[in-house]
Amino acid sequence: MPVTGPGCYSCHESMDSWDFTASGLTFHEAFAPTEDCTVCHNASGVASSRVVVTDFHNGLETERVGIIYGGEDLSVSEGKSSPGRSTASSTTRPP
Ligand code: HEC
Ligand code: HEC
Repeated sequence: MPVTGPGCYSCHESMDSWDFTASGLTFHEAFAPTEDCTVCHNASGVASSRVVVTDFHNGLETERVGIIYGGEDLSVSEGKSSPGRSTASSTTRPP
């Protein structure tokens, strides 16, 4: 997946889900979802180390977990492997 508003926001919702203050990249906060991210996020652009989604995700798992917990699709993507089944729904167990 390349860097795009619609692609990234499908899970992250908006620029607010990332903290650009620490990295000094706050210019991102002014971008609309329609901004062409690949202008910089491409192999020969200024953000060449962050071109596809795995460039962002790899190695970040233990860092600031939860910062995007409000992301709607997070529950969907995580739900696939989630052990958090509710016991309240045990009345619907299969025969
Ligand atoms: C399928 C859902 C999904 C999509 C699509 C997605 N992400 Fe993520 N992203 C996550 C999840 C879940 C985490 C949290 C991982 C963790 O911290 O354990 C995360 C974490 C991150 C982080 C680290 C959070 C932080 O503040 O340090 C960055 C940066 C990031 N994503 C950038 C992106 C970018 C850029 C895109 C688009 C190219 C993108 N993500 C697309 C689900 C997604
Ligand atoms: C004007 C150039 C430019 C544009 C346009 C741009 N970015 Fe970036 N972005 C950068 C640079 C430079 C970095 C830092 C790359 C690095 O760390 O090597 C970066 C880093 C990021 C990070 C990682 C922040 C972190 O803490 O690791 C995210 C997330 C991100 N951009 C998302 C986006 C999204 C989403 C868009 C489009 C809506 C976008 N960017 C458009 C230049 C840009």
